[in-house]
Amino acid sequence: MKDQPVHLALVAIGGYGLIYLNGLLDKTDPSRFVLDGVVDPWPENCPRLAELQSRSIPVYPSLEEFYRHHQTDLVLVSSPIQNHAPDTVTCLAHGSHVLCEKPLGATVQDAQTIIDAMHQHGRLVAVGYQWSYNQAVLQLKRDFHAGLFGAAKKLKTIVLWPRDEKYFNRNNWAGKIKDQIGRWVLDSPANNAAAHYLHNMFFVLGETMKSSARPISVQAELYRANRIENHDTIALRCLTEGHVEVLFYATHAVKENYGPVFSYEFEKARVTYALEDPVIRARFQDGSVKEYGDPDAVYLQKLYDALDMAAIGLEPACGPEAARSQTYCINGAQESMPEIGEFPKMLVTVSGEEGSRLTWVQGLDRILQNCYEKALLPSERCIPWSKKGLEIDLRNYTHFPQRSREGQSAAD
Ligand SMILES: NC(=O)c1ccc[n+]([C@@H]2O[C@H](COP(=O)([O-])OP(=O)(O)OC[C@H]3O[C@@H](n4cnc5c(N)ncnc54)[C@H](O)[C@@H]3O)[C@@H](O)[C@H]2O)c1
Repeated sequence: MKDQPVHLALVAIGGYGLIYLNGLLDKTDPSRFVLDGVVDPWPENCPRLAELQSRSIPVYPSLEEFYRHHQTDLVLVSSPIQNHAPDTVTCLAHGSHVLCEKPLGATVQDAQTIIDAMHQHGRLVAVGYQWSYNQAVLQLKRDFHAGLFGAAKKLKTIVLWPRDEKYFNRNNWAGKIKDQIGRWVLDSPANNAAAHYLHNMFFVLGETMKSSARPISVQAELYRANRIENHDTIALRCLTEGHVEVLFYATHAVKENYGPVFSYEFEKARVTYALEDPVIRARFQDGSVKEYGDPDAVYLQKLYDALDMAAIGLEPACGPEAARSQTYCINGAQESMPEIGEFPKMLVTVSGEEGSRLTWVQGLDRILQNCYEKALLPSERCIPWSKKGLEIDLRNYTHFPQRSREGQSAAD
């Protein structure tokens, strides 16, 4: 089976899907795969559409249409967040393995639907958190399991990434809580651009190499400066089932790029990373240092692993069970602050050219960096615009939302 090319398809070829298309066409041994077709209702947004057509690769407007003509081993799904669960389930039901982009889905019920379908149809699902497929992270996790660092105490990460109006206007779901037909999207920094770094904390703490630690409670603060439905700024504290504190700070409402920066504190070592010097490093109490390398070293490892998953049944480094800790955390965070806080107008600045204007909050970068340093949330630092979020119990959490906007139980 290993020597046979893997038959595959791409769902979405504009946006992030182009990374997979480029990876396949430019950086993958052509004898390893046959591209059966691509699915995108708006393929004209893909700069390589003409090339696909000249190679006679069929383009379909929907997965249903694709499966009317093909059976395929593997599908790479990079469609919008709210499509991840239905697209993945459709592919599994047609006998394909799936590499689905992060996040796993919008809600914990999406996650469960994917996991159930995977077991029902006997196919595998990999989730596209690229760090989880790289040796730097996998070796770090192995060393944690081997007891090199002792018990985990506190893990924290900060990601300050400006995003302008072009980002929020690039589609009809960016910054949305629900899409136009009422499906949950929950698009936000922690559920999209910076989701990797939230997931990574749970992933490294997982009891086995293929699992993540599950959050049992979360308290979050959600704010917005941009004119969007959901938040553009988040600070949260989670507790895992092993009672490890996980702190995460992310925003799109700043002027300058900063991060990801992380500090994972264990009994015997502190593990750090900063994008400016992209090496994961453990500093031990005895003064010794161990370097794990760059977690982005082989960016397309997830794609190569997915080919092996379809060819020889390689278990993915990050399957849906491992990816869903991030989904629990995000769902709980949304419930922790159902009414998103607005930054005071006097602090909100809009700069740049029409079409790519950036909305940012004066002083927000320093406040979040300070909160990160002290491992506190803005309300615990008594920041004037801050408000405290509810503590959400995630132990028996099976459905988003469990609380209505009024704070009562709801079965939506
Ligand atoms: N791994 C990463 O580093 C990374 C980076 C960026 C985005 N992503 C993920 O990729 C996914 C898409 O995000 P994006 O930023 O590319 O969005 P986007 O809106 O920029 O692009 C989405 C693409 O999906 C297509 N599309 C829309 N509806 C579709 C449908 N029903 N079927 C098939 N294709 C459809 C669009 O035409 C477009 O080509 C998200 O889940 C996002 O989190 C991952």
